[in-house]
Amino acid sequence: MAETAASPLAHALRGIGIRQVRLATGLVLFAYIVSHFANHALGNISLGTMDDALYYHAWFWQSWPVLVLLYGSVLIHLGLGIWALYARRQFRWTGIELTQLVFGLSIPAFIISHVIGVRLAAPLFGHEKDYPQVFFAYWVFRPQMQWMMYAVLLISWIHGCIGIYFWMRAKPYFRAVAPWLLALAVILPTISMLGLYQGGRAVQRASGSPEWRADNLSREKVGTATEQASLELISSAVLYGYFGLIGFALVARGVRAMVERRRGLVRLSYGNGKTVRVPIGLSVLEASTRFNIPHSSVCGGRARCSTCRIRIIGDCSQLPTPSNREAFVLERVGAGNDPAIRLACQLRPRADVAFFQIFPANTAASSATAIKPAHAGRERYIVSMFVDMRGSTKLAEQLLPFDTVFIINRFLTAVSQAVVECGGQPNQFVGDGQLALFGLSADPQTACRQAIEAAARIAVHVDALNEFLGDDVPQPLRFGIGIHGGDVIIGDIGSEEHTVFTALGDPVNVAARLQDMTKALSCEAIVSENVLKTANLEPGDLHRIEVQIRGRVEPLVVYTVEKAAALSDMTADFAVAAA
Ligand code: FES
Repeated sequence: MAETAASPLAHALRGIGIRQVRLATGLVLFAYIVSHFANHALGNISLGTMDDALYYHAWFWQSWPVLVLLYGSVLIHLGLGIWALYARRQFRWTGIELTQLVFGLSIPAFIISHVIGVRLAAPLFGHEKDYPQVFFAYWVFRPQMQWMMYAVLLISWIHGCIGIYFWMRAKPYFRAVAPWLLALAVILPTISMLGLYQGGRAVQRASGSPEWRADNLSREKVGTATEQASLELISSAVLYGYFGLIGFALVARGVRAMVERRRGLVRLSYGNGKTVRVPIGLSVLEASTRFNIPHSSVCGGRARCSTCRIRIIGDCSQLPTPSNREAFVLERVGAGNDPAIRLACQLRPRADVAFFQIFPANTAASSATAIKPAHAGRERYIVSMFVDMRGSTKLAEQLLPFDTVFIINRFLTAVSQAVVECGGQPNQFVGDGQLALFGLSADPQTACRQAIEAAARIAVHVDALNEFLGDDVPQPLRFGIGIHGGDVIIGDIGSEEHTVFTALGDPVNVAARLQDMTKALSCEAIVSENVLKTANLEPGDLHRIEVQIRGRVEPLVVYTVEKAAALSDMTADFAVAAA
């Protein structure tokens, strides 16, 4: 009993790595700045309102458990940021990654004196600094400092928003919430800065009065000049210490590079004749990046997607054991028991190793050669072909979301290639299915022949894909195809802002129904008699049946095709491929 209760927890803990800790602490800090900025925004109402709200803000964030969580998060998040500066093996950051790192490292430099001057001054000297005292210091005493306040507000906000974006962008609900988050990301810092501006002006106006000064700048509130000098001394020491830490991380990188060079290099063989030599300690993905070798990494090396997976060729005994996080991800994709499968972004070989990449780096669909519509807004004989991937729901249950999307994309790419090779146009993608059109620039007979040949080629491409994926998918990918032709309306449909070119009409719906029926009739394809007759092809061994299509009075004569590859026998006598 105890074991079953502990297992899920132990399993969940295995999934926690440095990135997860950085995210959790970052979320705590982000919650703090949202609360702090909302407090600033109240300055748009009045200085008194923002000062009153500060009481509740401080009551929550300075309660002991929250205070420990907050300052613990600050230290851990900061430490992990400096660690990232040391640990990162190459400096090829994207613009957004570089912005996040530079902004993240610069925040402490901006706020150290503010935090020490306000927060540390309270326990150290008993100062009571609230909004009026801070505004006086930054808007009256040293007015140039107000710009630093605006700058650090923006920098910390942008840093946090980038982190939130990286975290949420792969979530299924991201598209739905993104517009709201964007609105919040723009509105909150704007009204927060306006609140600061209004509060600062209010203090500028009020500070001319001796009564106001007596109330707000007393010794109890802001301390003495000596105490202020002590706080500035502490701020400078902490600031130098912080810069020292950054310098230390950079020096440590240099030392590590020298040590690694002494320790020697390891040879990484990519299984396609490409071999590189890299220092011990570099991950396989970092080696690929360093030598410009394309390598799939959808999550950017964060051990979240598994698309960087490699299969080791030969002896695996020299490999370091997977970290908890790597083991967790491999287990999720069903590769936990296979020592030959590793994540390239996590594996840091200590000896020569040969491998091949499981997923190709280039996942873009091959649609560049898609045919442009030639008769938009016209009626025309078109052959519609619906292709659907079987079992994708089950696949999604067994694989990580990234992997499922990756495999569906590979499947749709294989289908699109076959369609384009045969002169058709991949027209619409619906989930894991595709509508392809034939006859946009060909006569009806050619269009029918192209569609039949495309069905056969789809079978060949999907077979090749299955062979390539091997054991990395729980079961081979399967599909169903429905083909029917007839006069349809082709043209752009949609709203003013968003139109898509497509075909509308009964033949398109019939093709979709035929594709559906392939499941019940246990075959890979169903071709209507109309298509075979228009193509002037004999059905040969194909099984002829009559099916009832919803909405049609007459039954439709169709031919079921157990294995779509067999259709190539029909088209062997003529070449249908597009030029
Ligand atoms: S790049 Fe995503 S897990 Fe390695």
